[in-house]
Amino acid sequence: MTKPGTREPQPAPPWPAQPFSTVIVGTGAQVPERILTNADLEKMVDTSDQWIVERTGMKERRISAPGEAASDIAVKACEKALAEARVKPADIDLIIVGTVTGDMLFPSTACILQQKLGAQRAAAFDVSAGCTGFIYALSIARQFIATGVCRTVLVVGVEMLSKITDWTDRSTCVLFGDGAGAAVLKADAQPATGILATYLAADGTGGEHLYMPAGGSRLPATVETVQQHQHTCKMNGNAIFKVAVRAMADAVKHLLRQADLKLEDIKLLIPHQANLRIIEATTRLLKFPSERVFINIHKYGNTSSASTIIALDEARKAGLIRPGDVVMIVAFGAGLTWGGVVIRF
Ligand SMILES: CC(C)(COP(=O)(O)OP(=O)(O)OC[C@H]1O[C@@H](n2cnc3c(N)ncnc32)[C@H](O)[C@@H]1OP(=O)(O)O)[C@@H](O)C(=O)NCCC(=O)NCCS
Repeated sequence: MTKPGTREPQPAPPWPAQPFSTVIVGTGAQVPERILTNADLEKMVDTSDQWIVERTGMKERRISAPGEAASDIAVKACEKALAEARVKPADIDLIIVGTVTGDMLFPSTACILQQKLGAQRAAAFDVSAGCTGFIYALSIARQFIATGVCRTVLVVGVEMLSKITDWTDRSTCVLFGDGAGAAVLKADAQPATGILATYLAADGTGGEHLYMPAGGSRLPATVETVQQHQHTCKMNGNAIFKVAVRAMADAVKHLLRQADLKLEDIKLLIPHQANLRIIEATTRLLKFPSERVFINIHKYGNTSSASTIIALDEARKAGLIRPGDVVMIVAFGAGLTWGGVVIRF
């Protein structure tokens, strides 16, 4: 590891005459081994497989083992992405992790990954944007690459929502799962390739609809906060549902405008996998053909920041994305936050 004072100061890279393009050269995903099915949930709370499938589209989700932390699965996703990209950890300039369930409040999970990967040159930080975490992280990474400050950035979305789930609350515990995904981004001199547009948005007035009350400076951990399940996720599902559809449709419109594209140009739409009905309502609103929408919610539930990068990795590995294809990713989450990216592969 580089220790403070051991790296020679370098002159700043020259500001590029033209922004560099940001291309994704490798992706990887990792989920915990344990599968929790709807039938398992029927034994834990007053619910049914039929209700969960009809209301959410979910059939099973992955749950981490006791003692297994976010960085434990994230590091495997990163190793897969780096192997595909043929990038060595020592070549990474920056690691950005989107997460709200990192290993601990600090140090950042990005720093823990830097150490685990041996990416000694990399700066590292986490981004908290709820389920939009990966999109926020990807967008920040693009700015570092476009300006020539970084050549190689590792962007991660990882979540262990099972660790902050109230397993006695049927309105939330059926929804969430654990997982990790990673993407290696590189600077490219070719214009009109890689990330074509990004869009980020937030509405803090909606924060009360999805939050974890305790564990921060507002309500530090006490016996009472633990007894009252205040270290778990609280959600107003109906309010989130309505905002989610509007937010994802809003992101699509902004992205099309920015990238100067039409809906017909989008080969594959990868929406955040929070609820199949939210995805269907959004695509109906946009009049986007369902056969060009990627869905894996039945296997993983809502993995928050990891959702869209796991989906992107699966879509790529399934051969659904060919060179030249334009893919749009959109998400929404706690904050409230929402946004998206358009990428030409
Ligand atoms: C949570 C969600 C699935 C609930 O679906 P819904 O159709 O809105 O259902 P409602 O909340 O209106 O509840 C309908 C009934 O089902 C019940 N119910 C809730 N969870 C249930 C469960 N797991 N099993 C069985 N019944 C359940 C409710 O108690 C309610 O019963 P009631 O009519 O007797 O009061 C849905 O609102 C949703 O997905 N919201 C968005 C959540 C989200 O995306 N969060 C993450 C953001 S990144």
